[in-house]
Amino acid sequence: MQNTSETSSVLTQALEAKSVKKVILSGMRPTGKLHLGHLAGALENWVSLQDQYQNYHLIADYHALTTDLDSSHLYENSTEMLIDWLSAGIDPVKSPVFRQSQIKEHSELHLIFSMLISAQRLQRNPTLKEQVRDLNMDIISYGHLGYPVLQAADILLYKGEVVPVGEDQAPHVEITREIARKFNSTYKKVFPIPETKLTQFPRLPGLTGIDKRMSKSLGNGILLSDSPDIVKKRMQTAVTDPLKIRKGDPGRPEICLVFLYHKKFNPTEVTQIDRDCRSGALGCVDCKSNCAKHIIECLAPLRERRKYYESHTDEVRDILLNGEKRARVVAQKTMIDVREAMGIG
Ligand code: TRP
Repeated sequence: MQNTSETSSVLTQALEAKSVKKVILSGMRPTGKLHLGHLAGALENWVSLQDQYQNYHLIADYHALTTDLDSSHLYENSTEMLIDWLSAGIDPVKSPVFRQSQIKEHSELHLIFSMLISAQRLQRNPTLKEQVRDLNMDIISYGHLGYPVLQAADILLYKGEVVPVGEDQAPHVEITREIARKFNSTYKKVFPIPETKLTQFPRLPGLTGIDKRMSKSLGNGILLSDSPDIVKKRMQTAVTDPLKIRKGDPGRPEICLVFLYHKKFNPTEVTQIDRDCRSGALGCVDCKSNCAKHIIECLAPLRERRKYYESHTDEVRDILLNGEKRARVVAQKTMIDVREAMGIG
């Protein structure tokens, strides 16, 4: 008898602990296979937080249309990205994974939110300006201008409190906060005011220069799915200190992207590498091979898991459908709160 009540109180406690977990909402656009920048800038953070928080991870397939109208590869790219997430250690039982397009509430809340922010405010969004510059766009669509409004809907539909993203996304979380405050003050308090959580490595540079971010469109990255051979080859192309031409020349680790990679993937040797690079004792070719070795080691468990998922694509599809079912329940509940607060319905 006593045992039973003890058990049930443990169960109640466990359930309560579960319900007080803060909510994380984060996502990525499905642009295909992910690179080291995604891992260091966001994915690792998601994985390490998934026990402590209630995570939701969204595949922003509608957002992908803002820069590419071709929708024929969206499903394929979404599953490729999902396999990278799972390979990196996202546990889909703890953290539902889902496509934005499969949960209609995203579109509905986006529409409501679009009344709560000015077009001028959206035009000042620095991430948009950067994108327009990088992609040489001369016109931008109404939907692209509204990119952060849809992102606000993504976050707030799940009442996300913490948003772990790369630093380029911080302006979007700021806009989300403004929209949440505006909704709460205009109607009724429904939404939390979410916070950005940056990683220690919010931006890992690409191989083409320390001032370039790693990006798929620039083709200057190392993919999480790259074979050890490719990692070795790609690393040798990394741009280093232009004044260090051969072994023996003194180098400047502070301007070298390979040194930053060492900091990330080989932290125990950085002091030694710093010293030997400056003195000239360490040449770039050896330094890059050593770095490649550590990256390959770091990616080894991901490679193993990827092999599994690539040969179990039905399971990947079921993970997605199940995540969508769970996410939909939460999203529908929030929309009831929203309509109630606004007196619509
Ligand atoms: N804008 C994000 C990116 O480009 C993707 C994204 C969409 C997102 N919705 C989100 C990120 C909600 C965090 C939270 O990577």
